[in-house]
Amino acid sequence: MNNLIIKQINELLLQSIPLSPLDTNLEESMRYSLEAGGKRIRPLLLIETLKMLSNNSDYSKGLQTALALEMVHTYSLIHDDLPAMDNDDYRRGKLTNHKVYGEWKALLAGDALLTKAFHLISTDSLLDAEARIKLVEGLSDASGHLGMIGGQTLDMESENKQIPLETLQQIHKEKTGALLTYAIMAAVTIVKPPNEISDILNNYSEHLGLIFQIKDDLLDVYGDEKNLGKPVGSDEKNHKNTYVTLLGQVETENKLEYHVNQAETSLAQLKKSGYDTTQLEDLTKLFYKRDH
Ligand code: IPE
Ligand code: IPE
Ligand code: MG
Ligand code: MG
Ligand code: MG
Repeated sequence: MNNLIIKQINELLLQSIPLSPLDTNLEESMRYSLEAGGKRIRPLLLIETLKMLSNNSDYSKGLQTALALEMVHTYSLIHDDLPAMDNDDYRRGKLTNHKVYGEWKALLAGDALLTKAFHLISTDSLLDAEARIKLVEGLSDASGHLGMIGGQTLDMESENKQIPLETLQQIHKEKTGALLTYAIMAAVTIVKPPNEISDILNNYSEHLGLIFQIKDDLLDVYGDEKNLGKPVGSDEKNHKNTYVTLLGQVETENKLEYHVNQAETSLAQLKKSGYDTTQLEDLTKLFYKRDH
């Protein structure tokens, strides 16, 4: 894990939310959820992909988009934890946003983070206008009804009923995979590598998304609340469909292994094309070995 990049992301995130003259505590509530405690896996993935594609050169062109992505992710967590959705009390080792600031302010803090994300990308002076438009378009697709929100909707609609594995895979691909794919494809948009490299990365990202959410399902049952910083057993409480409920632990771990192998195969292809894949290999390991 590149701790220097994480530190930089943490500092920039808070700086990106200045106080408003309206003098409410909305910004405090936005910062509360953005603060350290999150793993910053999405910004890290974007920056490491950018570094790999540009031969380890300056990664500043990816920073604003990385912040924007973490803001969209954080907003999705604030809303995911609300009583109307998963109704959870802890996140990132602290009380959830609505537990501290109340439901309406948690909704608005989420809305404001989402909106801020598009401001950050569209005002990034390090990128040309075409790149900015493409990045905004990509983020709205990944986070909207055809992406993360679509997946969250299907996740909620599937509570209390049994769904086939294909539907669950679709939920995971959208609710979690879409933003992870965006992290990687945003780096592609910025660096513009050859099409075949972009295709390999796209394929890699889809397996990575599934790895991440399958592991999240496993941790919800077998994880340790202290390490996780969020409750164990939330899925069971909400009668969610997960890999564990549909397949059981052993089969779920087999699926995880399958997607890890596929992801590693994609990285091996990139390595063969001359890219230094060390950091992405480490990140892939972190995705399936993590305990939080
Ligand atoms: C949690 O995401 C929600 C899912 C998509 C599974 P993370 O596990 O990346 O949460 P943080 O950002 O580290 O808190
Ligand atoms: C939520 O999935 C994914 C998003 C917020 C988009 P989960 O509901 O499984 O995430 P956790 O387990 O609460 O972090
Ligand atoms: Mg949820
Ligand atoms: Mg949840
Ligand atoms: Mg979960």
